[in-house]
Amino acid sequence: MKKPLIILNLKAYKEAFDEGLEILNVVENVAHEFPQISFVLAPNAFCLSEFSKKKRLVKIYSQHVDPVPLGAYTGHLPLEAIKILGADGTIINHSERPISIEAISQIIDKSRSLGIETLACARDLKEVSKIAALRPDYVAFEPPELIGTGVSVSKAKPNDLKISVVSIVQESDGKSIPICGAGISTEEDVKLAFSYGVMGVLISSAFVKASDKRNKLFEFASAVESAFF
Ligand code: G3P
Repeated sequence: MKKPLIILNLKAYKEAFDEGLEILNVVENVAHEFPQISFVLAPNAFCLSEFSKKKRLVKIYSQHVDPVPLGAYTGHLPLEAIKILGADGTIINHSERPISIEAISQIIDKSRSLGIETLACARDLKEVSKIAALRPDYVAFEPPELIGTGVSVSKAKPNDLKISVVSIVQESDGKSIPICGAGISTEEDVKLAFSYGVMGVLISSAFVKASDKRNKLFEFASAVESAFF
């Protein structure tokens, strides 16, 4: 039985660079208290190696990856490098870093052969359906207009969220796990999302901007625990 998931995307926020590995220590600490929940941390590409070396319970994902092999590809992020650096997976097609459906398909296929986990983001229900058919490990319904607003997808788009869950399971033949993100900031946002059938939540600003990150993450984890078990 897959564990419920909390994915923390550090984006390129100043706090993520200023606090660096302290953030990983906070997430490891909370992960230790909630062994029934999977925690994923997605640092900026500049920090992927050091986070991957120091991780213990937490999985480390890249925020983006390019469908290129190792070789003469200046400035690219090759998928194999995730394996070499000891990371566990990658976010793909985040609305702040969108890629073509062809690139998404190539990355998912190649990740499967490399044993790298894929979390593909979809901005609307049309994209949810197209991407779920490619069977990434996770599909995140994440409406861009809600990102960073503190108005959660579970409160603002409950019907679309419920539809996304059904679509992900159907289009992937049960192979992809439905998650969601955008604006998730409170325990209630998390509980609502899980009540609509997601298995995980993708969070950024409410965690990165929190004055007490440990307390905020503990709050989110407690909400997942009470919603899922
Ligand atoms: O990757 C998830 C992120 O885009 C959500 O952002 O700040 O609304 O939690 P935020």
